[in-house]
Amino acid sequence: MSNILRRGRLEAAQDEEILRYTSSMEADRWIFDADIAVDLAHTVMLKEQGIINREDCSKILSGLLKIRGEGMEKLDFSYEDIHISLESRLIDMVGEDVGGRMHSGRSRNDEVATCIRLVLREELTGLLEEIHELRQTLLTLAEKHIETLMPGFTHMQHAQPTTLAHHLCAHEAALGRDFDRIQDAYSRVNLCPLGAAAFASTGFNLNRKRTQELLGFAGLLENSMDAVSTRDFLIECASGFTNLMINFSRMAEELVIWSSSEFNFIELDDMYASTSSIMPQKKNPDTAELMRGKTGVVVGALMSLITICKGLPLSYNRDLQEATPNIWRSVETVRTSVRVMGGMIKTMKVRPEVLAAQSVTGFTTATELADTFVRETGIPFRTAHQIVGMLAREMERPTLEKIDSAAEVVLGESLSSRGLTEKLVKEALDPVSNIKRRKVTGGPAPEEMQKYLSKRQTELELNTQEIATLKDITDSAFENLLAIVNEYRKA
Ligand code: ARG
Repeated sequence: MSNILRRGRLEAAQDEEILRYTSSMEADRWIFDADIAVDLAHTVMLKEQGIINREDCSKILSGLLKIRGEGMEKLDFSYEDIHISLESRLIDMVGEDVGGRMHSGRSRNDEVATCIRLVLREELTGLLEEIHELRQTLLTLAEKHIETLMPGFTHMQHAQPTTLAHHLCAHEAALGRDFDRIQDAYSRVNLCPLGAAAFASTGFNLNRKRTQELLGFAGLLENSMDAVSTRDFLIECASGFTNLMINFSRMAEELVIWSSSEFNFIELDDMYASTSSIMPQKKNPDTAELMRGKTGVVVGALMSLITICKGLPLSYNRDLQEATPNIWRSVETVRTSVRVMGGMIKTMKVRPEVLAAQSVTGFTTATELADTFVRETGIPFRTAHQIVGMLAREMERPTLEKIDSAAEVVLGESLSSRGLTEKLVKEALDPVSNIKRRKVTGGPAPEEMQKYLSKRQTELELNTQEIATLKDITDSAFENLLAIVNEYRKA
């Protein structure tokens, strides 16, 4: 049949190149199921409002279910997008007198915006579940390493001893905020633009509330012009994804460094490694490097989205079509990255002996020594800092004798005369007692870490329930929609 969209106003068909340039069919694979759900809900509502009759409704619904069963491949890819291709397939099946009624009071503008939101909503739920699992993986591993010493770094230089649990929990804390951001974005994705039509709504007596409920959305994007024009929800999600990937690039970077011969803190499982085509001995952390690299893809998608949306006048502009694939590309990259990161962490071999040995390299206990001077002798911290700084120049383990002679230079008196003892010095230089002392809220002391882990665990349990609620709402909306569709088909 002739092209149902162009046959009226336009004479010339598009040549191959223009069609490929303007078509969204390939990216629309993402929204095939959603588009059918939107068509089903819209048709049900049209019938309930008396805009189409029972028989036509029944035939349209049956046709749509058939198209869904056949799959996307059966559609005509010479159409410019899935919405019109699907409608054309329906008209082929049930005739124009019936199928031609489905698009009453609707535009592809509100249709596509609704589809994107439906799919993104599912993707976000999946992503939340995956982040949740990764956070659990990190907490479980942390639980095992509450006493595992390791060096902490600033400026990539050994700084102070900490524990592996403390380090892992730092990553988990960042992921917790990523989770919250995505959960928050979900609430603005989960709004329904359907019924806005092209932008000015419609003179048909639509019931927007009804289609919103049938599709399980929490509310409406009420202003019809805003509803079809905005892609702020894509920018918001892509920026949440970007934050997450920036955190991942930092984790990936550490996995790369930690598995080098210089560090030797961990060994990644072979599954995540590659070797060299020339150097037979090599075990390279390619998966972690690629994750660092894929961060660029996600950042790039955000930049594309922002740039495409910038300066667009109201209301719908075709530029918006170019925005959509960026969200699919980034959500796919992000979700895979979360799963892969979980796999790398779960399977990596940790070397506690290396971590512990390295925890004191580079005089990492210097801060605690200075703090001990302050607590035990009453000198100001800045003065203690100078004394320990002078001792650090020598790169040897400081003895009480050396401390005293440095103190003589700085203070004009020894610290042993102010109560400092060998025992106190020894304790300050011991990484285990360093850690034990750091029991300030959020510090690495084992007792504090235990408390922290159980707080995080409670939060994770709360998140489990929140995810289940999101799923329940959308699953039951979809079940309900299908039940109504089946009932109306019989009519
Ligand atoms: N493929 C289009 C998109 O993704 C669908 C909406 C087309 N609307 C239009 N008026 N041409 O944005």
